[in-house]
Amino acid sequence: MPEILTCENITKRFGGLIAVNNVSFSIKEGETLGFIGPNGAGKSTMVNVMSGNLKATHGSIHMDGVEITKMPPHVRVHNGLARTYQIPRPFPELTAIASVVAAVLCGKKRKNQSFDDASSEATHYLEFVGLFSKRNVIAKDLTFYELRMLELARALATTPKLLFIDEVMAGLNPGEANAAVKLVEKAKAQFDLTIFWIEHVMAVLVEAADRIVAIHYGEKIAEGTPDEVVNNDQVIEAYLGKGWRKYA
Ligand SMILES: Nc1ncnc2c1ncn2[C@@H]1O[C@H](COP(=O)(O)OP(=O)(O)OP(=O)(O)O)[C@@H](O)[C@H]1O
Ligand SMILES: [Mg+2]
Repeated sequence: MPEILTCENITKRFGGLIAVNNVSFSIKEGETLGFIGPNGAGKSTMVNVMSGNLKATHGSIHMDGVEITKMPPHVRVHNGLARTYQIPRPFPELTAIASVVAAVLCGKKRKNQSFDDASSEATHYLEFVGLFSKRNVIAKDLTFYELRMLELARALATTPKLLFIDEVMAGLNPGEANAAVKLVEKAKAQFDLTIFWIEHVMAVLVEAADRIVAIHYGEKIAEGTPDEVVNNDQVIEAYLGKGWRKYA
């Protein structure tokens, strides 16, 4: 499989704190790449650098062979990259449908698209995530689960080929978390996505990921198949603990 995105020697500093330290890896077209590590390991920071929300201190990122290291986030979106946030970031006063229309119009197909077309496309994404009945509810009146789903609908509405998921399960009850995971997998199949997926529930990534990269204190400590990574001594020591399978 060709590489869709390559990060080379990415470092991100916040003043004296090195949140990501010289991390390199590639995402292959069509795969689900899991990204794991303890709280504060630098996972979200890495996603923020890859999506363009933060500037890398050092290193380079290529997407489809083109350097995107300094490209602003919206141009990355036009090139087919989308993301969700660990803590949903809605427009609080916009209805669900208006939020997704905005995403449709910001996506890579936006050229000369009429509002009516954007609106019917947005409806399709709201239906996909199960929020059709909430289309006229403003975001600040949605539940946390619904906000998560709105976040996913907005990302999908930009018609990405590469989607970063920064924890779809966090803060959800087990039933909701299960539904959210199923939806991500359904989206991957239906929209032909490559997925870069951060999640703390290892059993989910072991099942869903083709490969996993692990980081600790901002440094890559392992990369391989789920089986290789969960049996890696450093990953067990830094993150999983010896008995993790019992609690997964
Ligand atoms: N904007 C920022 N300014 C200063 N420090 C930051 C900023 N964002 C993150 N950090 C710090 O960088 C480190 C990595 O944080 P990050 O949020 O990337 O971790 P994470 O792996 O996503 O953790 P979690 O699993 O808890 O979400 C932490 O020490 C965090 O406090
Ligand atoms: Mg995080």
